[in-house]
Amino acid sequence: MARLLLGVSGGIAAYKALEAARLAVKRGHAVRVVQTPASERFVGRASFEAITGAPVLVSEFEPDPARGAYPGEPLPERAPISHLALVERAELYLIAPATANTLAKLAHGQADNLLTAAALAAACPVAVAPAMNNRMYLNPATQANLDALERRGVAVIAPTEGPLASHGEQGVGRLAEPAELLDAGEALLTPPTYAGVRVLVTAGGTREPIDSVRFLGNRSSGRMGYALAREAVRRGAEVTLIAANVALEVPAGVRLVKVQTAAEMADACGNELDACDVLLMSAAVADFRPAAAVNRKIKKDEGIPKLELEPTEDVLRLLAEHRRADQVIVGFAAEHGEAAVELGRGKLERKRLDAVVVNDISRAGVGFESDENEVTILTVDGEQRHVPRSRKERVARAVLDEVERLRAAREGTRTDGARADTRSPARV
Ligand code: CTP
Repeated sequence: MARLLLGVSGGIAAYKALEAARLAVKRGHAVRVVQTPASERFVGRASFEAITGAPVLVSEFEPDPARGAYPGEPLPERAPISHLALVERAELYLIAPATANTLAKLAHGQADNLLTAAALAAACPVAVAPAMNNRMYLNPATQANLDALERRGVAVIAPTEGPLASHGEQGVGRLAEPAELLDAGEALLTPPTYAGVRVLVTAGGTREPIDSVRFLGNRSSGRMGYALAREAVRRGAEVTLIAANVALEVPAGVRLVKVQTAAEMADACGNELDACDVLLMSAAVADFRPAAAVNRKIKKDEGIPKLELEPTEDVLRLLAEHRRADQVIVGFAAEHGEAAVELGRGKLERKRLDAVVVNDISRAGVGFESDENEVTILTVDGEQRHVPRSRKERVARAVLDEVERLRAAREGTRTDGARADTRSPARV
C-alpha cells in the first residue's frame, strides 16, 4: 500500500481517472487527488472525494480539510504550513490524464496551479499519462516536451491508438486504461527484489468428479493465489500459476497452467517443482475424492448413490519431500477456531515447510470467497507475523516480504563458509 497522489488535468479522459482512483483504492493504496481548474469542467471533485474518501484540492490557496493526511492516517493536530504537504508525503505522483498544456508546463517547470506546483516539488517518482487529440500528441512541441520530461526521470505512460473524443477521429492519444496506469505507477514504487526468482503459485480449489456432471469441490475462489501471483510479478519474479477452477482475470505476465483435480494438481506441481525457487501453495486441494467416479450422468431413478471416498495425495507434503535445499516452500492452512495458529505450526513442522500462512475460517467475512483475509504467517525460524484483516493484496505483500526475508537469511548462511551446504537451509 502506498500514498498515491493523483493529479487530474482537464481533458475528456478525466472520467477514466475516476476509474483509476477507484482501482487504486481497491488495490489498497491511500489516494489523494489534486485537480486543475479546467479538469473540474469534466469531472467534479465530489466524485473523486466519494471514491477516495478524502477531500480534493484544486487551488494552491485553499486549506486542506484533511491537513495533508492520506486516507487511513490520523488527522494531524495542526494544518501544514505548505500547500505542497500532499506531494511531500506522496510515494507516487501519477498525473492522469496529462493534457498537452499541462505537459508543456511541466516540461518548462511552470508552477501556475496546484498540480504543476506539486510536480515541481515532488521528491517521489512521477508518472504522466498523456491524453489528447492525435495531432496535438504528434506535434513536435508535445513530443519534445515528453522527451524533456523523460530525460529528467519522469515516467511517460504512453497513450494508445483508437477512436478519439473528437467525432470520427482515429489515432494515437487515448489515455491508457486505468489498470495499465496503476501497473505502470506501481512498477515505479516497487523495487524488483524478485528479479531472476522463479515463483510457482497454486490457486483455486480442486474438483473431484462423482460423475460426468457432479463433483466434490470447495469454496476457494483463487483470489489469494492470484493476488500472490500479481504481487510476485510486480516484484520482478518469473511466475507460473497453477490454477484449479478459478474464474478470475489472469494476472498479466504470468504463465498459466490449468488443472481441475487433485491428481492433475499433483502432476502439474511435480512438473514445475524443479524449475522454481519459491513455491506458494495456496490452492485448496481436496483431501478425499470419490473412489469410483463414473463417466456418465448418474440418474436419480437409480436411487441415492453411496459415495465411497479415497484419500488424494498430499501434494505439498510430497513436494516438500522432493525439494531442493535452496527452495522456499510456503503452505496455507485454513483452520477453524482459536487453536488455528497452533494447528498451523503443527502443519509447518509435519510438512517440513519454510512458512505457513494460517487463517481462521471461523471468522466471518474473511478467507473463502472474500476479498479480505486475516492471517498469521509462521516461519521456520520461529517468527510469527499477524496480518490484521485487510485486502488479499496486502496479505500477499506480507507473504512475499516474509519469503524475501527467509531467502536473504539463507543467502547469508550460504555465503558463510562455516555453515554452508551440509544441512537443509530450510531448517537453519
Ligand atoms: N494440500 C495439498 N494437498 C492436499 C491437501 C492440502 O497440497 N491433498 C496443501 C494445501 O495447498 C495447503 C496445505 O496443504 O497449502 C494445507 O492444507 P490442509 O488441507 O489444511 O492440510 P492437511 O494437512 O490436510 O490438514 P487437515 O488436517 O486440516 O486436513
